[in-house]
Amino acid sequence: MAKIAPSVLGADFSQLGNEIRRADQAGVDMLHLDIMDGHFVPNISFGPGIVKTIDTISNTFLDVHLMLSEPEKYFEAFAKAGADSITFHYEARPEPLPLVKQIKSLGCETGLSINPDTDVEKVLPFLKEVDIFLIMSVFPGFGGQKFIKSALSAVSTAREYINLHHLNTAIQVDGGIDADNAVSVAEAGADILVMGTAFFGCKDKAALTQKVKAL
Ligand code: DX5
Ligand code: ZN
Repeated sequence: MAKIAPSVLGADFSQLGNEIRRADQAGVDMLHLDIMDGHFVPNISFGPGIVKTIDTISNTFLDVHLMLSEPEKYFEAFAKAGADSITFHYEARPEPLPLVKQIKSLGCETGLSINPDTDVEKVLPFLKEVDIFLIMSVFPGFGGQKFIKSALSAVSTAREYINLHHLNTAIQVDGGIDADNAVSVAEAGADILVMGTAFFGCKDKAALTQKVKAL
């Protein structure tokens, strides 16, 4: 069984409340919230204020993905805004353990992410410390990009490591996932599939959600 995490970046922001409610009604497992600083990635998205607004609309687990050069500066603000998990990038903080501790102390689940060109082997030793390992299947910064297939081998490597060491860490994959390639992502060993454009562009969100959950 896979989990589905719609990326709110793919929603129609003029209808944000309705888009969130429609996602909830479809039975999604979590909402994926992409935070960009215009520095770690070449785009700016939204901040804790919007996360707090979403938290007032929805009871769903809020999965915050920080694409920030200085993620630790904002952990507290996002925790207060209602984040249930906070993920930051290994490329921003290659010595991630003190930050993982900070997130835990705020009462949130922890996540570590890698870009498509980062060697997965480098982060394997940290996986036992985090709840979520987020493997990017696009270079972060924008929704609607094409899925990078080489991410699948990183997923398989992480899956093998997690199984071998009996870890509870969930593998999440993010970027360019749709109803078709979702199958290969799940087969490679992903637990959570992020879906922005494909989810919010889909009319029958409940059917799509069921399809992903059945993978
Ligand atoms: C990319 C973001 C992703 C992305 C997902 O920087 O982290 O969450 O927006 O959207 P799609 O599914 O459109 O690639
Ligand atoms: Zn994301």
